Amino acid sequence: LNAELSFLRTIQPELEQVERLMRVQVENRESNLRDAVYHLLGSGGKRLRPALCLLAGKAVGADVDKLVTIASAIELVHTASLVHDDLIDGAMLRRGVPTLNSRWSSSATVLTGDFLFACSARLAGDTNSIPVIQRFADTVSILAEGEVKQMFAGPCSIDREDYYRRIYAKTASLFETCSLTAGMIGTEDTAILNSMKQFGYDIGMAFQIIDDILDFTSDATVLGKPVGNDLRQGLITLPTLLYIEVNPNDSMVQTLLTGKCIQDEEIIQKFIRAITSSKAITQSHEEAEHFVAHGIQSLNSAIGIKEKQPLIELAEYIVSRET
Ligand code: FPP
Ligand code: MG
Repeated sequence: LNAELSFLRTIQPELEQVERLMRVQVENRESNLRDAVYHLLGSGGKRLRPALCLLAGKAVGADVDKLVTIASAIELVHTASLVHDDLIDGAMLRRGVPTLNSRWSSSATVLTGDFLFACSARLAGDTNSIPVIQRFADTVSILAEGEVKQMFAGPCSIDREDYYRRIYAKTASLFETCSLTAGMIGTEDTAILNSMKQFGYDIGMAFQIIDDILDFTSDATVLGKPVGNDLRQGLITLPTLLYIEVNPNDSMVQTLLTGKCIQDEEIIQKFIRAITSSKAITQSHEEAEHFVAHGIQSLNSAIGIKEKQPLIELAEYIVSRET
């Protein structure tokens, strides 16, 4: 266990249950499908979403079996979304291993994602809680709608509000659902549920900002996928946004703002260096830390949440992580 991830120690047995429950879903299925899912589940995700479910739920005394169930549902829907996302993006690597779409046809890849999505819906149903199931379904809509919006969006938006809406849809909404649904399994206290929801939202926003920073500052071996991908795809994230605010007349910025992808790899590398050596990275980091601080504050504002410390450590890990 990574020392940084010591907050996971308290939930190690439950995390292992999550692993088993996810695998059980494909045990007796068609062998290609089964092996593909085993391959996906074995490729080293950090399981932060299940951890958030388990820690949030245990902090309000929720039934552990139900928490394991919703944690598995959420990790499976996350996995399904990545299978589809990698196909959409034409990505060849994720977490250092070849993506399904790099080896399989689009049809087989789509169907594997669909299958995982169906498994996760089944598990959400197994919580026997209508509000949890509704929230789960709403979140999947937000994820899919966010992807569609991004696909049909015109020339790159350099609006911060728009950036925050995008990262809510693709990441923070699911984190919010982790802490909220886990909370709902344990309590009906609205003050506690609001603070859990806010906490999930804030650390989800921070998580995606850090992801967007790492796309500039990390390297492919650590990240398990190529760096600079966002820029290459013409996707404007917080570091680029902040760079643009200070350097609106930069020629690379001008090209990006026409909505065209920058094709020349040398220019991309130059742009990455310019952003990485500017204040934009530190400022983005501060923004992520601001979200985390707000999340912790909202956790502390509710009366009746028992074990906050592991949740706080999870939040702190999210902004300190390097992969
Ligand atoms: C990764 O973004 C993408 C997501 C987090 C969401 C993808 C959602 C869908 C494809 C729709 C939902 C589908 C199902 C089956 C539930 P990214 O491409 O910016 O990040 P990356 O660099 O990790 O690929
Ligand atoms: Mg992608």
